[in-house]
Amino acid sequence: MNIENEQELIQAALDAQKRAFCPYSNFPVGAALRTESGRIYQGVNVENASFGLTICAERVAAGAAVANGEKEFTAIAVVSRGGVSPCGACRQFLAEFSPNLPIVMVDSLKPTDIHYATLDQLLPGRFLGPT
Ligand code: THU
Repeated sequence: MNIENEQELIQAALDAQKRAFCPYSNFPVGAALRTESGRIYQGVNVENASFGLTICAERVAAGAAVANGEKEFTAIAVVSRGGVSPCGACRQFLAEFSPNLPIVMVDSLKPTDIHYATLDQLLPGRFLGPT
């Protein structure tokens, strides 16, 4: 997959991962979201003693972009142990803005281990709103 400045995006996600707040799972996740302007917005998972309040790194990054007036996303890198793919809630959340978003999944223990998908591959038939 052709990702603009891919290494820069991955490095931003790796840097963010160090700032994850995950005392309950000990599973740090870093995300880096590039927008149409070329800027990068970082996100980390933010956990809570009330576990269900946890926010994933991807949604934090998307929220930061939108809060800065950016609603067109061009790629997201997600870094974690094992290079997991975004959860269902994050897929739906990201698809609101960029349904074909390219996703770069990176294993933080072996950052050369990279997998790719697009959001429409991971979330076919998403909910589009009440009819
Ligand atoms: N998590 C993310 O931040 N992103 C993902 O794509 C998968 C899961 C977080 C939520 C929780 O803090 C921890 O990883 C374990 O599920």
